[in-house]
Amino acid sequence: MRCKFFLLLLAAVITGCSEKPVKKTSLPVVDLAQDQYDSLCVYIASLKESKKMMPRTTKDGKLVSVGIYDWTSGFFPGSLWYLYGLTGDKKWKDRAVEYTEKLDTIQYWEGNHDVGFIMECSYGNALKYMDAPAYDSVIVQTGKSLSARFRPKAGVIQSWDWSEKWECPVIIDNMMNLELLFHATSISGDSTYYNIAVSHADQTMKNHYREDYSSYHVLDYDTITGQVIQKNTHQGLRDDSAWARGQAWGLYGFTMCYRQTGNPKYLEQAQNIASFIRNNPNLPSDKIPYWDYNAPASGNTPRDASAAAIAASALYELSTFTENKGAEGHRDLADQIMESLSSSAYFAKPGANGNFLLMHSVGSKPHEVEVDVPLNYADYYFLEAMFRRKEIQQK
Ligand code: GLY
Repeated sequence: MRCKFFLLLLAAVITGCSEKPVKKTSLPVVDLAQDQYDSLCVYIASLKESKKMMPRTTKDGKLVSVGIYDWTSGFFPGSLWYLYGLTGDKKWKDRAVEYTEKLDTIQYWEGNHDVGFIMECSYGNALKYMDAPAYDSVIVQTGKSLSARFRPKAGVIQSWDWSEKWECPVIIDNMMNLELLFHATSISGDSTYYNIAVSHADQTMKNHYREDYSSYHVLDYDTITGQVIQKNTHQGLRDDSAWARGQAWGLYGFTMCYRQTGNPKYLEQAQNIASFIRNNPNLPSDKIPYWDYNAPASGNTPRDASAAAIAASALYELSTFTENKGAEGHRDLADQIMESLSSSAYFAKPGANGNFLLMHSVGSKPHEVEVDVPLNYADYYFLEAMFRRKEIQQK
């Protein structure tokens, strides 16, 4: 026994990391997810040295994979981490490590706000299962790179470099990148990252939201005066509409900000966004939204399973902060979403759908790109929602 302990300790010292325990979930949908991702992994491995090794979606029935600079590159390793978290099967961990480490150079990239998504879904999740000082350094270095996009006068992180159209565009999706900054402060003890995250969240709450707690998609800031110049959309129906995934990003982002700061104003914001979603007259009875809450409620209007999966994951977390203040309602809505997503209407048959789990997501309807397709982030947040539900049930 003692010998085994010392061998484990020695292995941890040599590899520079140590294990954290995992409990298995027994659900048929987890087994189906494992089969789909087993096939996806075999296919992706067959691409060998291709630079496009992260599966993203399908086009004309064929799998589309992308390289590490694509904003979705962290979701595939992230899904592998959640499969490990749900099953405890070491093969998922080995695969998750392999694909996480392919993203190593992103830590130095200052060219896009999405480094937060990319590295927190991969390295950030890894750190839930391993103590790995090398991965800690990656998170902190990514925090530095992301902070280079902070515009102090406006108090926000610039999302895109798109000077023909906007000076300093900030999209609601950017709330999701803040988790990495909070993580960087908790590792390094340097409050710079935390303060940038709080400033961005505060400005977003003040400027992105309307009276009904729906959000604009893109705001353009003047970096000299700090003023908002324009309120637009890029992926929504209209500038003043409620793009479905944007509402889900906001719900998730403010719930996460409450977890990280304990500031009740973020919790209140998340509660109000949840009410906007729940009470929306355009939300179909299966609780999977149309791609925009202002899109016509008809059979031809595409649904967005990705928006539903993100919202379900956020609602499970929100329910843990709101006992006696709506927790049951949040869990109930998340359960209804998950029941729909796990049904044959949204969950793919084995071997179909490019081996992704969920069908019927929308990338960008105005550009007619990725409409009614699988998307790797729909799968990621679906698996995360299952994982969060499991944690709630175990408590
Ligand atoms: N963050 C990009 C999107 O949600 O489409």
